Amino acid sequence: MILLGIESSCDDTSAALVEDGRKILAIRTLSQIDIHKVYGGVVPEIASRKHLETVAGLADEAVKAAGISKREIGAVAATNRPGLIGALLTGFSFAKGAAFSLGVPLVAVNHIAGHVAAAYLAFPELAPPFTALSVSGGNTLFIRVQDYTDLKVLGSTRDDAAGEAFDKIARVMGIPYPGGAEIDRLAQAGREKYGAAEAVRLFPLPRPWFEDAPLDTSFSGLKTAFINQFHHARQTGGEFDPALAAASFTEAVSDILVSRAEWALKSEKSRVLVVGGGVAANSRLRERLRETTDALGAKLYMPPLSFCGDNAAMIAAEGYYEFLAGKTAPLSENAYASLEEAPGGF
Ligand code: KG4
Repeated sequence: MILLGIESSCDDTSAALVEDGRKILAIRTLSQIDIHKVYGGVVPEIASRKHLETVAGLADEAVKAAGISKREIGAVAATNRPGLIGALLTGFSFAKGAAFSLGVPLVAVNHIAGHVAAAYLAFPELAPPFTALSVSGGNTLFIRVQDYTDLKVLGSTRDDAAGEAFDKIARVMGIPYPGGAEIDRLAQAGREKYGAAEAVRLFPLPRPWFEDAPLDTSFSGLKTAFINQFHHARQTGGEFDPALAAASFTEAVSDILVSRAEWALKSEKSRVLVVGGGVAANSRLRERLRETTDALGAKLYMPPLSFCGDNAAMIAAEGYYEFLAGKTAPLSENAYASLEEAPGGF
């Protein structure tokens, strides 16, 4: 069965055709980064307008590239939570129109579940149950994936998402939005120059830990500690080496996430970790997760970098399993900025 997937929760407009939740027939994604870059972050109103201008054209292009007729589309799946509300509504409304005009079911997809489902596209053998980490610009969540459509949050960030913290410290250093990938490159240079342990010693940063909720995370204090050291160096004429600072910051984020991943695998008695979301593209995090899962004898599934970020193929993949579970949505279905306000929560 072929699903048309639509993603528009933030600053990527994406349309994809995916067969049986696993095989990408075509995907077209348009990033709005160049537009938002000048503002130092995503401007929600502009994001919504750009999705509106481009979503229909991208869906048409994807259908042409897949070499199929629109009549072969069996369902339309679109992200309806969580995200920027105007941006979500644009793509989700388009999906409703497409489902209605094609006479096929509509599936409303949780963006976080979509990030987890990106791994189904890359690894045909992967099937629940497993433990997942979804780490992006908007969310940082540890999840028990009991079945394709049965996900339980084990822990989440209490403030900023990991990607948000990367973007904020990058911004302070004058690196254009989104700065995560550039911090990754700087950190590699910092590790080569100083070594990871020495970078941590020379540029110390906190690693918060919650006794009562070991799988919860916090990145706000870490971000503030980084920014304070940056400003202190500027104000006192002290030395500030961006590569050193980036290496130490990346080590701190990796420590926070890898320690939780280890905790999650042990406490869940799970031997499979799936990682998704834009920050899963981070080279050091990938390396550290690989070392830790190898040491635990657990399997690690990380999609290729191209599927770590927002894309519609992962939405169609999750949508397929939602459809199989009978979870289709009425045309009156709404979109939700946060999972808390969505009926049924996660
Ligand atoms: O999944 P995504 O494309 O969008 C959201 O759903 O948020 O993630 C984007 C986030 C941004 O914060 C970006 O800076 C971060 O992922 N990111 C990275 C890297 N590549 C992208 N963060 C750290 N290292 C990277 N290599």
